[in-house]
Amino acid sequence: MRVLAFESSCDETAVAVVRDGRWVERNLIASQSEVHRPFGGIVPEAAARAHLVNIVPLLEETLDWLDGGGLALDAVAVTYGPGLAGALVVGVNVAKAVAYARGLPLLGINHLEGHLYANWLLAPGEEREPPRFPLVGLIVSGAHSDLVLMPEHGRYVRLGRTRDDAAGEAFDKVARMLGLGFPGGPAIQRAAERGDPTRFPLPRAWLPGSYDFSFSGLKTAVLRLLEALGPNPPVADVAASFQAALVEVLATKTAQAAAEYGAAQVVLAGGVAANLPLRQMLAERVGDRLRMPPVSLCTDNAAMIGAAAYYRWQAGARAPLSLDAQPNLPIDQS
Ligand code: KG4
Ligand code: ZN
Repeated sequence: MRVLAFESSCDETAVAVVRDGRWVERNLIASQSEVHRPFGGIVPEAAARAHLVNIVPLLEETLDWLDGGGLALDAVAVTYGPGLAGALVVGVNVAKAVAYARGLPLLGINHLEGHLYANWLLAPGEEREPPRFPLVGLIVSGAHSDLVLMPEHGRYVRLGRTRDDAAGEAFDKVARMLGLGFPGGPAIQRAAERGDPTRFPLPRAWLPGSYDFSFSGLKTAVLRLLEALGPNPPVADVAASFQAALVEVLATKTAQAAAEYGAAQVVLAGGVAANLPLRQMLAERVGDRLRMPPVSLCTDNAAMIGAAAYYRWQAGARAPLSLDAQPNLPIDQS
């Protein structure tokens, strides 16, 4: 089964073709980092407009490739939430238009579910066992930090979530405090490579008895530290100390949940899953049960939407052409 997938929930416009939920045949991404960089964060209306400009060239290139190779499509899938309303609407409408014009079935996919399914993706010709259930998934992105138990395809029990800032949001805000630019995650990781993670002991919000997260106290602690350090702070040491605090909480809670629920596999997902210290610490804590996408498939892409769509399709899901964007769609509602 060959799915054409669209993703436009945030600041990447993406179109992909995925076969049987696993093999990535095409994966085009137009990043808007340059649009938002001057603002130090994502400007929703600018994101929607950039999607409008970028999506049709990506679609044309993909359709030319499909038609040139005589490859038939079986379905169209699109992220319909959660995300920025004006941004989601662009992908949803283009997906509907293609489904209508080509007489193909449509599937609406939850963006967070898509992030998890990045763990199913392979390059053409590559072979690997799919992740095994029950699994515990950590989804950490610019807007979400969710710890979920996934007993089977399409079923999610939310074990914990952030009570304030998402992990990626904390990276982005602290990067801005440190003058490291946008997006903040990769910038902090780079700066931290030269820093001492033990120099500044920053708070870890363990929230005992709960799998929830909280990062606003850590963010405020960095702000106070920078005020105390004055005009020329040791940026690398502050970045490394912040990253170490955040990564330790994420990895520890994920490992605890994996042990409590007897997870056969632990999967990492979302933009922050690209963070190397997080990948390393989780590997130390959960061993070879850990699966994580290649760094290039951690941040937003449409291939992951095409993967999730295949398993939704098998469960009988179909979306009507009246499909609407759901900006606040939670992971346990698809
Ligand atoms: O999943 P994603 O591309 O978009 C959302 O759905 O939000 O995640 C973007 C987030 C940003 O906050 C970005 O700073 C963070 O992922 N990120 C990272 C890294 N690469 C991207 N955070 C930490 N380390 C990284 N290497
Ligand atoms: Zn995302």
